[in-house]
Amino acid sequence: MTDVKVCKIPAIRKEIILPGDKSISHRAVIIASIAKGPTLIRNFLASDDCLHTMSAFEKMGVEIQRLASNQFLINGTGLYGLSKPDSEIYLGNSGTSMRLLLGIFAGQEFEALLTGDESLCKRPMKRVTHPLRMMGTNVEGADDANFAPLKIKGIRPLRAINYTLPIPSAQVKSCIMLASLYAGGTSHITEPQQSRDHTERMFKLFNAKVSVNGGISVTGGSLLISPGELTIPSDISSAAFFIALALLLPESEIIIKSCGINPTRRGFIDTLKKMGADIDIVNIKGEDLEPYADIIVRSSKLKSIIVEADQIPKMIDEIPALALTAAFASGKTVIKGVGELRVKETDRINSMLTNLRLMDVDITAQGDTIIVKGPSRLKAGKLKSFGDHRTAMTMVIAGCLADGETTVEDIDCISTSFPGFMELIKLLQARR
Ligand code: S3P
Repeated sequence: MTDVKVCKIPAIRKEIILPGDKSISHRAVIIASIAKGPTLIRNFLASDDCLHTMSAFEKMGVEIQRLASNQFLINGTGLYGLSKPDSEIYLGNSGTSMRLLLGIFAGQEFEALLTGDESLCKRPMKRVTHPLRMMGTNVEGADDANFAPLKIKGIRPLRAINYTLPIPSAQVKSCIMLASLYAGGTSHITEPQQSRDHTERMFKLFNAKVSVNGGISVTGGSLLISPGELTIPSDISSAAFFIALALLLPESEIIIKSCGINPTRRGFIDTLKKMGADIDIVNIKGEDLEPYADIIVRSSKLKSIIVEADQIPKMIDEIPALALTAAFASGKTVIKGVGELRVKETDRINSMLTNLRLMDVDITAQGDTIIVKGPSRLKAGKLKSFGDHRTAMTMVIAGCLADGETTVEDIDCISTSFPGFMELIKLLQARR
């Protein structure tokens, strides 16, 4: 268990390049594995979570070559070419791997056992096992298939369904979309609010029969065709920590190169701009798969805001960074509709309240709403990651902004999404 000590950083002026997007990396390896032909993936996020997804496909007979640290060649087997894994599929801490892969396994005629670490085995899975059962899949696990380990065996073809998601969740949507590739007919999926649309975009790139028109329709049985190669932009969720840091440090400017700016992921930036943040998005490119751009962030004086629940899906992973940022804004920031944070890698409402209160921030939660009163002057403290990568990184950033020396306990979890994060922080600190 690694603890880290961080101190206040005076000012930063730097251009940085961040690792590839986690959500897109998962989808790239999944979809390339079941497509016909080789796909070269550039800027893949070789983090623990994405490597778990990759090794699941290797266990099902997909040949994958690592050409460079973040470049992989996937030799897709085609939709029906996966083979039975000879042991259980272990997915570590990765909810995205578990929920998306269940969609793939739902369409296989062999049985598999999917499991993960302690946190993953406590996260709710009925949100995906319920619609998969409606499609005809046999899936078993504790509390009526709500918790991993999950034993799953599909049928062919699956039944196409019309399904309205009870919550906006890209993991649930993507699970059903993947299973729908193995259905006899067309499935229709409707979301209460739009969640990230990386699966829709990747399906189109691989020539799947998908249409997006209010809801999403996927027709099963047609083969996916590899585009040959694809490049993954940098992760806007990883960028969020450095955006917050540059905004909140005096006299700072940071340029984040080639970062994903998909409108369904950009809620953090859009919200910060409403709070008065000086952020420019320039050199927009990449309209064929995912848009990306350079993001320029300058120190800003922020004012409080009310964030409505319908904005949350566009920044679901950035709420910890937003809560920290709100501590520096003058006035009362209200962030509504964040109940889903309770079922992330840890209960992130609890982890933010516990840590930020230790730093003297006036933060409370009422039901699904977080309220932060600012501006605060952050006091250094001994903070906990709760084994959750985004909590750990938010608290390291908080330590870079606080008076005194902050300790963040148990930061090994950062490797699930952002290997190299601490090296980058150290580089910024070394410039003092
Ligand atoms: C993800 C969707 C979100 C997000 C997670 C990644 C994805 O989860 O929090 O980090 O890649 O589809 P939900 O679908 O549970 O909102």
